[in-house]
Amino acid sequence: MIFYEPATRDRRLLPHDPFKALVAPRPIGWISTVNAEGRANLAPFSFFNAVASEPPMVMYCTGGAASADRVKDSQRNAQATGEFVVNIVPFALKEAMSDTSATLPPEIDEFEKVGLARLPSRLVRPPRVAGAPAHLECRTERVLSLPTMPGTAPNFMTIGFVVGVHIDPSCIVEGRVDVRRYRPVARLGYFDYTAVDDVFAMTMPP
Ligand SMILES: Cc1cc2nc3c(=O)[nH]c(=O)nc-3n(C[C@H](O)[C@H](O)[C@H](O)COP(=O)(O)O)c2cc1C
Repeated sequence: MIFYEPATRDRRLLPHDPFKALVAPRPIGWISTVNAEGRANLAPFSFFNAVASEPPMVMYCTGGAASADRVKDSQRNAQATGEFVVNIVPFALKEAMSDTSATLPPEIDEFEKVGLARLPSRLVRPPRVAGAPAHLECRTERVLSLPTMPGTAPNFMTIGFVVGVHIDPSCIVEGRVDVRRYRPVARLGYFDYTAVDDVFAMTMPP
């Protein structure tokens, strides 16, 4: 086995940081928010997951080496307005999702920039991505400030309660969501992605 401590990784043996390739696949939270003036923002986050089901809660984390000193709009908006929406990424919208990750000034609306149609939400102000198979309307529960390496963007974890759920009925088969209908996109390491289309079931031991 190769063993390393992240701070002293041997870059001749492992020139590319394997961390994100090992914690994979990671679901992608495509997060829409609005700022105080109501301008929409949309960006993908793979440090994203569900964290509880009773009540349902999700989280996403902002940070990153490539964006030193920049507080991301998605975090700032969700904290300032108390609301965000998670748009589930289908295989068909993978390029649009990636396009919304461009670093843009806060006044730019990524829906407009990328040419994505929007749908109004029911309980919160951020719009939903038309064409996404499901959306989770969320109210921000808390924002945790996490340790940050010098020279990188501040690490924040935004946790939200899921207060409303939209599902495209064409994704429901015999009363259950069938991911094969939309093939959710997930992040691997490096520039790699996967899409879920292989499903098997196992029952839990008593
Ligand atoms: C698939 C994918 C996953 C990403 N995951 C994260 C993440 O977990 N955390 C993060 O800070 N940035 C992540 N990014 C980069 C952000 O999307 C990017 O910094 C974006 O410009 C942030 O936008 P905002 O400032 O409007 O919030 C990811 C990009 C892509 C394409």
